[in-house]
Amino acid sequence: MPSLIGKIALVSGGARGMGASHSRAIVDAGGKVVIGDLLDDEGSRLAEELGEGAVYVHLDVTSSVDWKNAVDLAVRTFGGLNVLVNNAGITGFGKIGEYTEDQWHTMINVNATGQFLGITAARDALVSSAPSSIINISSTAGIQGTPGLHAYVASKFAVRGLTKSVALELGVFNVRANSVHPGVINTPMIAGLDLAANVGALHRAGEPEEVSNLVLFLASNESSYLTGTELVVDGGQLAGILAEVQTL
Ligand SMILES: NC(=O)c1ccc[n+]([C@@H]2O[C@H](COP(=O)([O-])OP(=O)(O)OC[C@H]3O[C@@H](n4cnc5c(N)ncnc54)[C@H](O)[C@@H]3O)[C@@H](O)[C@H]2O)c1
Repeated sequence: MPSLIGKIALVSGGARGMGASHSRAIVDAGGKVVIGDLLDDEGSRLAEELGEGAVYVHLDVTSSVDWKNAVDLAVRTFGGLNVLVNNAGITGFGKIGEYTEDQWHTMINVNATGQFLGITAARDALVSSAPSSIINISSTAGIQGTPGLHAYVASKFAVRGLTKSVALELGVFNVRANSVHPGVINTPMIAGLDLAANVGALHRAGEPEEVSNLVLFLASNESSYLTGTELVVDGGQLAGILAEVQTL
């Protein structure tokens, strides 16, 4: 496991699902974490369980005031901020003609604008505490389309593009930025959905910890030459179409 000793992280959407797994992994690797979420009870319980290396803060990623508060808490409590995991996200389906303009704006606001606001609020702290790493959670939906998932797909493509422009701007300060593209991962977000057709070469959904392993690598100095790129962790979903092997 890469060492995160000396690393201070802020994880949005850190109370449950993959964000909770990332928060836990960061502390296990010797780092400190500020867990931000709307789910105050779950987030506070997790921070308590993780001990003195973790603290919870109420964070709505669509609020720049909440973001400033979360970054200030990291600096006040742990002395800086050198890892930002932009993980919070929502999903939602609807065909063209049924999916409303309001639904569109909400999705873009949380999944894309939320990450921009986080990077904006954290920029100065990340520069001061460099080497730093911004980890933007996108999706395989940030690389290919899905019918009925238009706003989600658009928001996740936006994350991928934002990551590259941020990497180019902040690289001179030794602040790296990469996007992570999970496939189907077992979390509350996908509970009740039939996604069997979306699993890839490994024929199974992934577990949050399998994404956390990549997040840890990106947060650590082990990934010191990776920036502006996209890392896919999807069990082979994007490798191609699963089909029976044909014999002549
Ligand atoms: N589960 C999957 O199959 C999958 C696949 C690819 C990408 N992702 C992405 O991974 C990330 C984590 O998803 P998950 O599967 O753990 O989902 P989840 O629903 O279990 O967790 C998402 C967390 O984000 C929080 N959140 C939602 N809106 C928020 C807001 N406005 N401000 C702050 N927090 C907010 C939720 O309260 C929740 O704790 C998301 O960005 C998601 O789009 C998930």
